[in-house]
Amino acid sequence: MARWTAVLWASAFAGCWAEPRVDGHFSEAEWAYLQTYRLPPLDPCPPRLGLAGAQCDDAAALGQALFFDPSFSGPLAIADDGVNGGLGAIGERGKVSCASCHMPDAWFADRRSNPAATSLGAAWTGRNATSLVNAAYQRSFLMHGEFTELAPLLEVPLTRPALLNSSKQELAAAIRARYQARYDAIFEPDLGGSDDEQIFVAASVAIEAYERRLVSGGSAFDRYLDEQWDAIPESAKRGLALFIGPALCSECHDGPLLGDGEFRNTGVQQHRPGASIAFVPATDLGRGRHTGDPADDGKFRTPGLRNVAETGPYMHAGQIPTLAGVVEFYRWGGDDAGFAGVKDPMMVPLELGDEDAADLVAFLETLTGEAVPAELRR
Ligand code: HEC
Ligand code: HEC
Repeated sequence: MARWTAVLWASAFAGCWAEPRVDGHFSEAEWAYLQTYRLPPLDPCPPRLGLAGAQCDDAAALGQALFFDPSFSGPLAIADDGVNGGLGAIGERGKVSCASCHMPDAWFADRRSNPAATSLGAAWTGRNATSLVNAAYQRSFLMHGEFTELAPLLEVPLTRPALLNSSKQELAAAIRARYQARYDAIFEPDLGGSDDEQIFVAASVAIEAYERRLVSGGSAFDRYLDEQWDAIPESAKRGLALFIGPALCSECHDGPLLGDGEFRNTGVQQHRPGASIAFVPATDLGRGRHTGDPADDGKFRTPGLRNVAETGPYMHAGQIPTLAGVVEFYRWGGDDAGFAGVKDPMMVPLELGDEDAADLVAFLETLTGEAVPAELRR
């Protein structure tokens, strides 16, 4: 506490007579730093296969159709569980699509998730489905960073028993049966191919082209960065000052997504009260599961916070239902036990009052951007 109190006093005095304050809240240096939070444009075309122009648009449209198509999914292992509803009867095929968990009207996150249960496809996934809005900006994919490119990740939801429980063969068969002409117009004869693996690669690039269009900027926070001083309320301005100052948030959540993508252990209890082992796995090693290095156990990718008010519940298995709950979690310095690995030394109890906590939530609520256009949500 001593450290931050000292910094606070120092900056308060400095603010009185040395540094000019921007909008009464920020030093020139802080304001310059905040400009690094602006969301840059994103190339709508995937790097693989060199699609461009209309060809890339057509690929995105094909990717969109596949994203919403449950026809190639495999048999369900779990029917209605009585917690967040099933997708059909046990053994039924053709029931799960990407949109089952990445719900287009819920910012491509899973509205069914709650702290007692993660996302349900053919079976329980073990983690809460992340929002795909702005996901394409990231440097790595999945919370343990298994992929550094978006397209090849398709293999995970396609083939894992808990998700689509399908296969490259079943995907290729669906494309031959129902998308052949569209596929050929985009990918044949130069880019695609007709064996199952080639069709999988082309389809993965098409889905990436679609995912690259699921972007959202233009939040009230962005308008504030454009010096529209009334874009966000006073409480959110105080919250932002805490966020980049004594609350330490920007030590991990910074840059255009407000999440630097580094892997860290914040000490999230895997099972919070009310969660059942049946629906949320007993342990999750996070990054350690991918690298095999015990030093990485319990580390998760630092997520971006854009649109965060719309994408609860929070943390890797949706352990915390509300933003106010997340801020409480940081106030006490993360949970004490019940997680893998060793907590990051930055996770210390914060000297924040109730009003400070409310201000932080008010700031997080300004990060909701413009909705993804309706034509991309169906
Ligand atoms: C049963 C629910 C479910 C289905 C169906 C599903 N996903 Fe996911 N998806 C998840 C979960 C849970 C995560 C988070 C897993 C993780 O990060 O380890 C995720 C993560 C992702 C990510 C990574 C995002 C990021 O920020 O790293 C992408 C991309 C993705 N899914 C695309 C798809 C596509 C494409 C499909 C359809 C082929 C699909 N998903 C189907 C549950 C699902
Ligand atoms: C030491 C690095 C670190 C600090 C400091 C930190 N965070 Fe986080 N934050 C993370 C990581 C890592 C996660 C993901 C944890 C998980 O999934 O289990 C996360 C998750 C979150 C989430 C949930 C996002 C989601 O979609 O589930 C929110 C909201 C959040 N942090 C806000 C904040 C705020 C507000 C502060 C300051 C009070 C803060 N964080 C400080 C690293 C950090």
